Parts: sequence; C-alpha cells; structure tokens
Amino acid sequence: MKTHLSTASKAAAFLSMSVALVVLFAGSLVSSQPGTTELFCRDWRFFLGDVKNGETMTMDDSQWRMLDLPHDWSIEGMFNPDNPAGVGGGALPGGIGWYRKTFTMPESGSSKLTFVRFDGVYRNSEVWINGHYLGKRPYGYSSFEYDLTPFLRYGVDKNVLAVKVDNSEQPNSRWYSGSGIYRNVWLVTTEKVYVPNWGTFVSTPAVTEASATAEVKTRVANALQQDQPVTLKTVVVDKNGKEVAATESNAVIPKSSVYEFEQTLTIAKPELWSVDAPVLYHAVTTVELGSAVSAQYTTAFGIRTFTFDSAKGFFLNGKHMKILGVCDHHDLGCLGAAVNTRALQRQLELLKEMGCNGIRTSHNPPAPELLDLCDEMGFIVMDEAFDMWMKEKTKFDYHLDFAQWHKRDLEDMVLRDRNHPSIFMWSIGNEINEQWDHSDSSGSVIARDLAGIIRSLDTTRPIVSNCNDDKRGNPLIESGALDIIGFSYGHNDYALFPKTYPGKKLVGSETTSALETRGHYDMPSDSIRRWPVRWDVPFTAGNPDNTVSAYDNVSAPWGATHEEGWNLVKKNDFVSGMFIWTGFDYLGEPTPYSWPSRSSYFGIIDLAGFPKDVYYMYQSEWTNKPVLHILPHWNWKKGQTIDVWVFANCDEVELFLNGKSMGARKKTGDELHMMWRLAYEPGTLKAVGKRGKEVLTEEVKTAGAPVKIVLQPDRNVISADGRDLSFITVKVLDDKGTLVSDAGNLIRFKISGEGKIAGVDNGCETDLGSFKADHRKAFNGLALVVLQSNGKTGTVTLEAASDGLEGSTVVVQSK
Ligand code: GAL
Repeated sequence: MKTHLSTASKAAAFLSMSVALVVLFAGSLVSSQPGTTELFCRDWRFFLGDVKNGETMTMDDSQWRMLDLPHDWSIEGMFNPDNPAGVGGGALPGGIGWYRKTFTMPESGSSKLTFVRFDGVYRNSEVWINGHYLGKRPYGYSSFEYDLTPFLRYGVDKNVLAVKVDNSEQPNSRWYSGSGIYRNVWLVTTEKVYVPNWGTFVSTPAVTEASATAEVKTRVANALQQDQPVTLKTVVVDKNGKEVAATESNAVIPKSSVYEFEQTLTIAKPELWSVDAPVLYHAVTTVELGSAVSAQYTTAFGIRTFTFDSAKGFFLNGKHMKILGVCDHHDLGCLGAAVNTRALQRQLELLKEMGCNGIRTSHNPPAPELLDLCDEMGFIVMDEAFDMWMKEKTKFDYHLDFAQWHKRDLEDMVLRDRNHPSIFMWSIGNEINEQWDHSDSSGSVIARDLAGIIRSLDTTRPIVSNCNDDKRGNPLIESGALDIIGFSYGHNDYALFPKTYPGKKLVGSETTSALETRGHYDMPSDSIRRWPVRWDVPFTAGNPDNTVSAYDNVSAPWGATHEEGWNLVKKNDFVSGMFIWTGFDYLGEPTPYSWPSRSSYFGIIDLAGFPKDVYYMYQSEWTNKPVLHILPHWNWKKGQTIDVWVFANCDEVELFLNGKSMGARKKTGDELHMMWRLAYEPGTLKAVGKRGKEVLTEEVKTAGAPVKIVLQPDRNVISADGRDLSFITVKVLDDKGTLVSDAGNLIRFKISGEGKIAGVDNGCETDLGSFKADHRKAFNGLALVVLQSNGKTGTVTLEAASDGLEGSTVVVQSK
C-alpha cells in the first residue's frame, strides 16, 4: 500500500474500506492483510565518521547515538565557510556517516518476501544486511529498494541492517544537500506472488464528460518454484470510496518471473482533477491465487486532460490557465534536508494562499511525500531529474556517476512518479552544460537518450529541459528530444520566441531570480538594480551587512524583478506559465556570495517561512481574494524621504499619514504596485482601498521600544506520532502590541511535556547560530520555533523569555 504520514490513518481506513469493497465485489474471502508496508525509521544507531567493519553483525554499536529517521547530520553542524561544501553548498559539514538498525523478524515472515525501501539517502549509500552487501546508490535523490529475503533470520535471532553514507567528497552540489538517510525508510513484506515496487501504472488516455478510460498496467511477480495461475482484480473507487469500475484478468505466471497485466476500465462521468478541485481516484489491485488473496495494493490517480499550445499556452481540462509556479530546493530551513510531511504541507499551504499553482522540483526527484501533497492540494509539478549530465558543475557532482547511473536513476524516477496526477512535465535537466557547445553533438545525443528512456515508460507527459542558452543551435533544443522548450531566464528573448522557434511551445521553466531580505528597505525604491554587473565587480545592490532591500527592485543580472518577470508571462499568451526562482529561500547559494551569507535571498518567502512583501504582489495578481499590503515598516528618521508601496487588487487606494490624505493612486502601465514618496513623520500610515463595493484598510504604525514577546502557533493540536509539528511564530512587540520592525532580541526557549524543539530560525541569511538550539535572536522582529511531538500524547509547553522583555508561554496538545 502506498501511503504517507499525513494521511496514514486516512489511508489505513481507506484500505480497509477498499478491502471490504473488494470482498464484496469479488465475493471471495480476504483472510489477513497480504503484505505490509511499514515505516522503518525508529531506533537506528548513528555514528558520524567512518567505521572499520561497520557492516558486520558482531560490531558493537551500543555506544552509537540512537535516533529516528529521517535524519540529516549536516544541519546539526556549525556554519563555516571552510567546510568542503563551501558557502554555495550551505557551509555546513559533510563527511561519512554510518547507520545501523538491529531488528527481529517473526517466524511467520519466513514464508514471505521482505524488502527494504529507501526514499532517498544523500549520497553514495551502501547497504548491508547481516554482513551481506546489497548494493550502492551514488545519486542522493533516487529512491531504491533491496530484497532482504535471502539473508534474513527469523524468530529470536537478530538482524542488522547497516548503511554507509559518504558525502565526504565536496563540493558536489550548488545548493545545500544535507547528509544522511534524510528521507523515509520502509520495510515491505509480501507473499511470494506479489506486485513489485512501483508495479502499477494507471493512465487515462481518453477522457470525455461522459466517461474516462483508465488503462492499468500491473506487474505481478511469481517467486514460487512453480508456475502459478493468478487472478488480477482491479477496482476503481472514487473519492468517497465508492466503487465506480472493476475488472479482472487471469494468467498463468511462470515460476521466477514477472508478468505484466494490461486492463482497461471505464469510469462514467469522471470527476476531473484540477488545481482547484484535486479529485483523486484509487485503483485497488488484488492478486488472487484461487480464493486466497496474495497481494493488495492501492494506487492513487487522477483524471485530467491537458495540452500545451504554441500560441495560447496551457489548457487544463479544456480550460486555459497559466502555470503560476515556483522552483524550490528540498531543504526545509532549520529542519535541513530531513523530510517532514507537515513541513512540506506548510510550505504548500503558504504557496497556495499566494495563488501559486505549480512546483518545479529543482533540480532533482523530490521526496514522494511532496508529490502526494501536490496531488491532494492541487499543484502542477515539473518533476526534474538532473542538474548536470557528463559535464560538471562542481568537482565531485553527479557528472562522475552519470554515464553509469543515469539510465537507472531516470527510470526509477519515472517508475516511482508516473501515477501522480500532479506531474505534468518531466524535466531531463537544468541548465545543462552540454547545451553551450553548438559544435558538439553530445548534448543532442544525451537529450535523445534521456527522452527515449522516459518515453519507454511514459508517453502521457511532455519532456522539457530548462535551457539558459535559448539561441538556435543549442544542441538540446535542436535534438528534437524536447516537447516543450523551457527558458531559464532569457527574459529579453521571450518576445522573439514565436519567430525564433515557430510552432514550438514555451514554458518559463525558471524565471525571475530577484533578491530580498525580509523586512529590510533601502531608499530610493524606484530604480532597478542588478547584481553583479560583472562577476568581478563588487556587490552594489546590497549593503555591507549583506542585507538586500525588500522593495521589489533588486535582481540577478540574468534575471528580473518579480514584477518584470510576471508581466512578461502575463502579457504573452504563448508562454504557458512560469516557475519563479524561488518560492522559499534555501540553504546555500547565497547571492551575494560574500560570507557570512549562507542561504539564498531568492525566496518570495524566507527560510523560516515568513512571507516577504512581494508575496502580496503575487497574491494580488494571482488570487481573487482582497489584498491590500503596505510596505515598509514605519520607523524612520524624522523628515527622511520614504517610499511607500502598496500591493493591492483594488480599483484605487488612498493613503493617509496620521489622518491626512497623501493622495489616491491607481496602478498604471506595467506597475503592479502603487507608490507614494513621503517625508517621514512617526504615527500611523493607513491605506484605504476600494474594490468594487468593498472597502479594505491596512495600517502600519511606528513602534516603540520592545516590551514583550508573543508566541503564535500555527496549530494548537498536533498528532502524537513523533513527527508532527507546530510552527510557532515569535514576535517582539512594543507596549501597544505593534511589531518592532528592527528587533533583534535574543530569545531563550524552554520546552516541557511531550515535545521537543526540532529547530529554530528567524529567516536572516547571515545568522550563523545553530538551527538546533534553545535560543534564537529575533530578526526584524520575528523568530520561529518548530515544536515537534515526541510520540507521546499529552501537552507540550513552550516558554519564551528575553532580558528586559515580558515573556510568553504557549501550550500545544499532542493527541
Ligand atoms: C539558475 C540555476 C539555479 C540557480 C539560479 C540562481 O541559473 O538554474 O539553480 O542557481 O540560477 O539565480
């Protein structure tokens, strides 16, 4: 059964419902659950460093640290520009680490098969069971499985699974990768006739209002020593668990072989998956040997149609829509690379609120939980395979493994991900270096090879590559392998696209690259600054303290401001959409590169998850909800000239300073904000907007000295599963409750009860404090504490204190 944590109980309930349905439908008896897929993440031993004979059963690991997976050891380290990852890689330590898990298997398991599944290990993992070598996977973003069956011991005898992770050769990434078993691990048991990993492929080749055809391909493996007659039943259930289609097929599967069934089902009046109504169906697959159920497997899928048109852009279910997407790396801020479903869900909730409807998994296959969430929440995903092919970007990166591993890694990505209705495009690579040499055909050859690998497994989605060489002659584009041309920036060439590439389809697969520090503003705001003008020219768009103004007027020279980027996509119908670099700030690749910056400035939302002002520009453009947002804060020097911006979707906005009108404005031309230039006086700045008949108001006030702290949890109740999180915003306020916009007070946290602090942050790109601490300085008035369930039910109390400030306490229930 395919499941993920946020919906684990939902999925369990669903499966029992499905089992009941299958029983009803098949009229046969389902005895016990045939096979299980369980998280295998508790109680691993970990050692940071290399260990001689770390794989042997006899090695004494009792002194090693005990921890639960997913785990990222890099995020526990201290920032240092001399760490081999370099500042581009996030300046945190890498190295070698060993993990070992000791476990027993019930006697009843000896008649079954047992597999271990890793969703992702960064990187160069090698795995042993009871001293037997199972294999190596260099690529840190691939999911993989090993068969443990031949080596397991059952009953009281212990088994030892050992994993060596080698992330010592660095740099191997242009962003923060994390190190360790940073995604989930699953223990899978099956009967000997079973559906192997990623064994089901559901597609819906024909969809009308009246009906949809579902084609289901199911691989069934027979590990018995005899040929086996098998019945494969597939039942499709709708979002309410109601059966809407069913079929069955029979075959005799020769011993020790795999047979692929192909079935076709018809679903009447299908409910279509869309970004606004992400309706899911489930295919419940049951393998029967006579009257005994040998395997049962549930696959979520969606029914939707889409086209990319060279003149008109993207259509979902026949309706035109722009893809309004963001690119994101996989780190989760202070949690590092260690995947957490709630942290991913929070990111997607923030993006959804902004009006975003697309995610590019830059530049690698994501955690499966991200795709499950995109299916459930309604996002258009570009699933990307690689950041490089044979030509390197960093010394020790995947170019060293590409020749040997690309086929396997790409196949595994497509096999794992092809049922997700959220995925609409496969990207074979990001800004691949092979594209630049127009006289070298290797770029074409590899592009065709990769596209061929994908098409052998899935022809239902177009193939794209993110190209920063957008000129004719780019061997990737000329290869004919791409269904859609993805432009990486090249903003000035958008208008030329229909002439340069007549009849071709375009997506802005990477756009923008604007830079901002949350809550920091430089005057004046009305000239656009690019950094760096040349690589050897010092940074001029930021400040000596590495802050960058949060007016939307600073961008990388290859990029654009947010307004420029969105205007380009908005105005050109032939552009199917955009993926902005980036939704969230991420660790590594700080632009400017000058230490002590250790994380990026590109996010619309900062590393802690606090929106920067430009978030509201998108919200005003991309949603219909009323938006009126004023910037900057209102604490300046008397008489200083201050630019006031308002992002709004109002017909007109009037601004008042201490009750006096500063004039009314409408958006003009390409401007997606309104601006007033004022002489500062303390008090209250108030914007009043009219939106049809609606009246919206928004105020910012001059803050006094910091007086108190408030704690605002995003959720007061979390699940007691040892994983769930409450994200607690810490605000520093004055005596009237106004946010102190430059507060940097050091705040200490004390936690008691059934929880722990999983991380602390404040969104500041230059803060070198540990993310795994019980204290944090506020940055521009805010800090974040991520509180995590410890697996027990009860209450969790978090107290926040700071010298000279009134403290605050919050209680979260863990249920
Ligand atoms: C692009 C690249 C991204 C990131 C971005 C920063 O060229 O694809 O990974 O480096 O630039 O602007």
